[in-house]
Amino acid sequence: MADHLTIATHPLVQHKLTLMRKADTPTAQFRQLLREISQLLAYEVTRDLELTTARITTPLVEMDAPVLAGPKLALVSILRAGNGLLDGMLDLIPSARVGFIGLYRDEVTLKPVEYYAKLPAGLETRRTIVVDPMLATGNSSAAAVSMLKAKGARDIRFLCLLAAPEGVARMAQAHPDVPITTGALDERLNDKGYIVPGLGDAGDRMFGTK
Ligand code: URA
Repeated sequence: MADHLTIATHPLVQHKLTLMRKADTPTAQFRQLLREISQLLAYEVTRDLELTTARITTPLVEMDAPVLAGPKLALVSILRAGNGLLDGMLDLIPSARVGFIGLYRDEVTLKPVEYYAKLPAGLETRRTIVVDPMLATGNSSAAAVSMLKAKGARDIRFLCLLAAPEGVARMAQAHPDVPITTGALDERLNDKGYIVPGLGDAGDRMFGTK
């Protein structure tokens, strides 16, 4: 599992995550923290992007300066909570293409069913970063990644704020080729599928719903 999972141990990530976990953190602050933490997680999940050089002229001399070599990035948000991670990521990667996948759980089969998908073209040639704050059972994440692979995506990463061991194991079993970056690996899921200690329902906390 070690290669498959990266925990963003940066002190700012850990401090902000603690504030987000607190039950009395109000919606506006939760949203602001999520935006800030998303920027830090974007930094972490893109740290192995390849560089090449371009010839530029500074006010003093010419130089070969580092620039991103590609591939181009696609960010795919799993609705609705994934959208909370998008804004901060786009602050750092403004030229990324963005896709959305909506899934609900069929009450009979308990399997994720797609109700919405809008994806950028050319996923075959992009690095695709799937974003969802809470990797809980991993069922919807695994289904979203399967769908992206069916549409041609090959170079896929998964980014979340909190992960449960159950979700990490599910993703490792279904998609061992997809590395996961998370802010923390929590203890477990409870019988309602919430991550413990967790932060509650991420969508409700970021949008102020209940
Ligand atoms: N989704 C959430 O929003 N919170 C959890 O704890 C698990 C899944």
